[in-house]
Amino acid sequence: MKIDTIEQSYAKQLADLISAESQLGATLIKFAGIATDERLKLAFEDQLEQTIGQRERLGKLLAKMNGAFQQQTCAVMHSLIEEGDAIISDGGDAQVVDAGLIAAMQRVKHYEIAAYGLAIESARMLGREDDLPLLEQSLGEEKGASILLTRIANDGNLASAAEPVVATLTMGRSALATPPLPAPRSAPR
Ligand SMILES: [Fe+2]
Repeated sequence: MKIDTIEQSYAKQLADLISAESQLGATLIKFAGIATDERLKLAFEDQLEQTIGQRERLGKLLAKMNGAFQQQTCAVMHSLIEEGDAIISDGGDAQVVDAGLIAAMQRVKHYEIAAYGLAIESARMLGREDDLPLLEQSLGEEKGASILLTRIANDGNLASAAEPVVATLTMGRSALATPPLPAPRSAPR
């Protein structure tokens, strides 16, 4: 479908985000099952719940858009998930795999932060002020998830275990407000 208006572009962005959140669900379940760091496991489980809520919010917003772009496949998320799968199949010891999972999910979170940020700007341009609280709630969750992953990487010394991207993402962490780590579910191994 050809896009002629900002409104159509906005509807496409929302549909793309729904696709992204939908694709991510299975990956988060898989990552939570593979992660050995208990805090990382919990973080992925929490993100799965957030993803379900984010998808519902997007559905509400798209329902107000006269049915435009109901079906959309987010190719970026598809590629990011493929990259995550490649990290898993590369294997390695537990610390390296956990660091790889964090790196893969940080890429996802940064994509989502950018996508929600753009959707918010589009909503503002269209004067759709009523849409902003839901989009900003999701953007806040994505930012919080990214910060938490950074903390887990640093606290578990995972930043030095694998990819440079983890180390890069942890630089400048002191400038960010960091949410508390989730309490471990069981005693540390
Ligand atoms: Fe999300």
